[in-house]
Amino acid sequence: MIKLTERLSAAASLVKGGGIVADIGTDHGYLPIYLIQSGKIEKAIAADIGKMPLENARKSVAQYELSDKIELRLSDGLNSFRENEVNEIVFAGMGGTLIAEKLKETPWIKNESLHFVFQPQSRAEDLREFLFANGFEIGEEIATREGNRFYIAFDAFYKGAVREFTVADCFLGKLPKTEDAKIHIQKQVNRLQKRYDATKEIGKEDTELFETIQKLKDFIND
Ligand SMILES: C[S@@+](CC[C@H](N)C(=O)[O-])C[C@H]1O[C@@H](n2cnc3c(N)ncnc32)[C@H](O)[C@@H]1O
Repeated sequence: MIKLTERLSAAASLVKGGGIVADIGTDHGYLPIYLIQSGKIEKAIAADIGKMPLENARKSVAQYELSDKIELRLSDGLNSFRENEVNEIVFAGMGGTLIAEKLKETPWIKNESLHFVFQPQSRAEDLREFLFANGFEIGEEIATREGNRFYIAFDAFYKGAVREFTVADCFLGKLPKTEDAKIHIQKQVNRLQKRYDATKEIGKEDTELFETIQKLKDFIND
């Protein structure tokens, strides 16, 4: 049985199972291999924009003798997929901004029967902003770590209703108040603080940014 890292385990644990999963940006193909081996799913489509990553996936899939259960597909985001071809879609290990861009290109994702799992490597706030502004709801969030590196993963469904949300909501999502989540948010505070200090230095203090930072600090200190 393939062993996943903490980061990919978090994403795998959010997959509901029972159907067909598309793993977008699969690279080595470990996630779909694990999902099949664990009995969570029967079939997967492992997709990547690059021929070399897809070749990596082909080798792993052959090594674990799963070529009949995992289809390999060259695809930029979901461009090579048809509506209703899969039940769940995973984007792991890609930046949140890029994931949001790829979702934006695919109108059929606004479908209540589709389930999404995301593990953004950076800029998770851009992805959450896209989801909130387009009628998606976050289910559960997980914060985890591998040594000194902190990761988050969450799942989402399309619901159709667009609720009001703040910039702080985009940073916090539904993160649990665990130590790992607080460290992840502290890193975002450090990044935003630099941006805020720069606005102050040039005499154009960003008060909205200041309020966002305070809300993130409340999350950490609560
Ligand atoms: C860092 S790897 C992540 C691999 C694996 N999903 C994981 O989490 O360990 C990112 C992968 O995304 C692929 N990728 C980047 N842009 C993409 C796009 N627009 N569509 C599909 N795959 C893409 C890259 O080729 C690369 O293999």
